[in-house]
Amino acid sequence: MADIDITRDGKVQIVRFNRASKKNAITRAMYAQMAAALAEAESDDDIRVTAFLGQPEVFTSGNDLSDFLTVAQGGEHGTEVQDFLKALITSQTPLVAGVDGLAVGVGTTMLMHCDMVFASPRAWLQTPFVDLGLVPEAGSSLLGPNIMGYQHAFALLALGERFYAEKAKEAGLIHSIVEPELVDQSTLGAARLLAEKPPQALKTARRLLRGDTAPLMNRMMEEGVLFGEALKSDEARSAFMAFMSKKAS
Ligand code: COA
Repeated sequence: MADIDITRDGKVQIVRFNRASKKNAITRAMYAQMAAALAEAESDDDIRVTAFLGQPEVFTSGNDLSDFLTVAQGGEHGTEVQDFLKALITSQTPLVAGVDGLAVGVGTTMLMHCDMVFASPRAWLQTPFVDLGLVPEAGSSLLGPNIMGYQHAFALLALGERFYAEKAKEAGLIHSIVEPELVDQSTLGAARLLAEKPPQALKTARRLLRGDTAPLMNRMMEEGVLFGEALKSDEARSAFMAFMSKKAS
């Protein structure tokens, strides 16, 4: 079974995390598949919307920490993560997401690139970047304060506070809270509505609403350099090893 399922529902492309045994942790191969799916949406006029979905109680636990540990120990990083983040920023196709349960790290920051996010009451968002010796990524250091104001952004992105659904909605990170069994349905319902709109007008409206993406791209690249350096720090290496050894014990 693939770790990411990419399917079509009419004009909606569904990208579903499917690695529940590892809390949908995202490997390099999964990033590559997601980047390819976003590229496909740009080139295929039959795809009007891309919807990101997860599994019951698990959206995603973010980047696979064993991949991070590999880099921390001198291994190769690859371009897959950055390819995916660039594709999020350059996407002209509307993006929606449905979150039930945990959304950690990039599982939270990718939501900042989505146009509409639906979440269950038991959804929670968290970015333990600093705890891991890392820094905010995916343009979140720019998008975060813009979306939710500095205080919320600092609490989420620097303190690593867990935002449950109500708080995430208040902060503007999600559109609606729906019961867990309705997360997929509500997300796809919105996606289908968007898919029926005149596509060019929708793309233009979206571009205007999102504004100039050049500063976002620049910030994401700057974060990427700092993140890459931080990954190799003693602070990060010991945090990843602690996670892995906790699992092994
Ligand atoms: N990378 C790699 N493996 C991960 C993972 C991640 N990000 N998140 C979870 N897993 C794995 C665990 O190692 C475990 O594998 P195992 O069964 O082979 O030991 C399995 O998924 C289940 O995770 P577990 O920690 O037992 O589940 P939990 O419900 O107790 O906790 C989390 C869930 C998400 C709170 C916890 O797994 C966690 O903190 N993960 C790391 C999140 C993170 O820091 N992401 C990167 C942000 S930059």
